[in-house]
Amino acid sequence: MVTDTSKPENIWSDELYVKYYLEMMDEKYPESQTEREANFIEGAINLFYGDKLLDLCSGSGRHAISMAKRGYQVMGLDLSNGLVEASKRRASESSVKDQVDFIQGDVRKLHKLKLETNFKAAYCLATVGFHMTDQDFNNMLTGVYHLLDPGGYLIIDVINRENLLREFNEKDWTKTRGGYTRLRKTKFDFKSSCTINQKYLKTPDGEEEIYYQWMRTYTLKEMVTFLENNGLNYHKVYGNFKRTAYSINSPRMIVVANKDDSNL
Ligand SMILES: C[S@@+](CC[C@H](N)C(=O)[O-])C[C@H]1O[C@@H](n2cnc3c(N)ncnc32)[C@H](O)[C@@H]1O
Repeated sequence: MVTDTSKPENIWSDELYVKYYLEMMDEKYPESQTEREANFIEGAINLFYGDKLLDLCSGSGRHAISMAKRGYQVMGLDLSNGLVEASKRRASESSVKDQVDFIQGDVRKLHKLKLETNFKAAYCLATVGFHMTDQDFNNMLTGVYHLLDPGGYLIIDVINRENLLREFNEKDWTKTRGGYTRLRKTKFDFKSSCTINQKYLKTPDGEEEIYYQWMRTYTLKEMVTFLENNGLNYHKVYGNFKRTAYSINSPRMIVVANKDDSNL
């Protein structure tokens, strides 16, 4: 897939991008939206106070911190050191640092991390597919399977490929209140089912950077096959965090699965 080898493979590991990302996320996903998404997690699966949760690709830590505030023991895992450090700071500021732990790691190589097992649930929101080959995704799911309790849950949230293609946007532009501008140009490669982006970022000081990113998109049928091939039973799909039924018009495809314990 197309990448620029002079840049970190994961754009979220780039110091300049992390600053923009944290500012953009705080504006685009205010606490009320994060709370809605955390409500979704609590409503979609059967959780009890104190259950252990694994936030895969935890980003700014917003879901992990919200779930910790609700009384769960959460581990957030992310590839970006900058975001892991920012998440730890935010957890301390929110007075939940004893309920949530943030570690640096790659979900494509979960087996290498030697994590504790027995998570009641894992969730991966808005990240599956980013620089993730099908083999990487299978490796991630095998890793998750081993970390979950028998019957434990997995929630995967991805963009709805059908709607993405129906309303395909080749160019979009955003500006943060702090003065970052970002122009994104996107192409779709049908053979690999991937979006390919170029992101042009300009900082408030006028510094400019270009980032490249590709993301695999999935049909529901493909997603179910990936899950079932890794011992995870497809349970339900939703079209957004309000738990609306999934359709061609849905912005998201949010799949709930659970660990098949029949072989244990
Ligand atoms: C679009 S953000 C989503 C963050 C968070 N889940 C949310 O919804 O706010 C993607 C995050 O995934 C992380 N990430 C990307 N690839 C990863 C990988 N292979 N392993 C772990 N984290 C990864 C990035 O560093 C970034 O923090």
